[in-house]
Amino acid sequence: QKITKVYIVACGSSYHAALLAKYAIEHWARVAAEVDIASEFRYRDPVLDPAALAVGVSQSGESLDTLLALREARRRGARVLAVTNVVDSSIAREADAALYTRAGPEICVAATKTLLAQIVALELFALTLAQVRGTRSAEEIGHIIDSLHRLPEMIEDVLSREKEVDQVAEALAGARDFFYLGRNVGYPVALEGALKLKELSYLHAEGYPAGELKHGPIALIEPGTVVVGIATRNPLWEKFQSNIAEVKSRGATVVLVANDGDEETARQADAVLWVPETEYLFAPIVDVVPLQMFAYSLARLHGHDVDRPRNLAK
Ligand code: M6R
Repeated sequence: QKITKVYIVACGSSYHAALLAKYAIEHWARVAAEVDIASEFRYRDPVLDPAALAVGVSQSGESLDTLLALREARRRGARVLAVTNVVDSSIAREADAALYTRAGPEICVAATKTLLAQIVALELFALTLAQVRGTRSAEEIGHIIDSLHRLPEMIEDVLSREKEVDQVAEALAGARDFFYLGRNVGYPVALEGALKLKELSYLHAEGYPAGELKHGPIALIEPGTVVVGIATRNPLWEKFQSNIAEVKSRGATVVLVANDGDEETARQADAVLWVPETEYLFAPIVDVVPLQMFAYSLARLHGHDVDRPRNLAK
């Protein structure tokens, strides 16, 4: 109830879940949240308020950088919360409290279901903060929780669209460069989509906040570049449409993740990955699934072992 700031540290996909937590904590609970890559935080001489909470997000609960970042935060006076999938892992044991995602063992190297569970756990935590601090009414929280209950059905629905995702992947099997773009909560989804493609397909993929395009990366957009845009409804949906128009006019092939029935978005796309619409802060939990499927499909088309990507270990 009394914390003044939340510092979240994590690596890889867990870092992307952490970025989404920042949107939820600040929007719902009105507490400032900062997110750091754990391997940067632990060496950057951070200033921590004694009433701060440090949150470590780690599927395995064993990533050394995250563990040591949390130790550093504790040494500087913060209380520590672990969000992990593994009961009694090192990070959970050292924390003051642990929030377990209990998604079942993540057997392949690429994080998939555990990422969705991390986002849910962190957003529930944000809602709990909102509740105890009184920044959202019980009624509003009740409506949000109702949307949360509908997510499993929506994800089942997205999973059933595998053939459509495969068709898009087949059409792009020859492409070498992919830009994943998003804004607001679509931005961490873009980072995650790009990471999944890199680690499974070994293709060049960049994740960017679309508003940054004009500050440099747009120079790389040319005919043949594939842009994958997270174009589902969020507060910056309209601005994102203009960003897509910019890459389209430079000849990019555009694949958009769009809400079912959103023909306006579909008109800008060469291909659409359709998803059901939900509360915008939950949208990443649904939107990331076709991107996981897309990376899986492209990796298989390129003949790679999706469970054991090269150079990576769990
Ligand atoms: O177990 P952790 O969540 O701490 O692992 C962090 C990263 O190593 C992990 O998310 C990695 O990026 C995955 N291979 C992503 O699919």
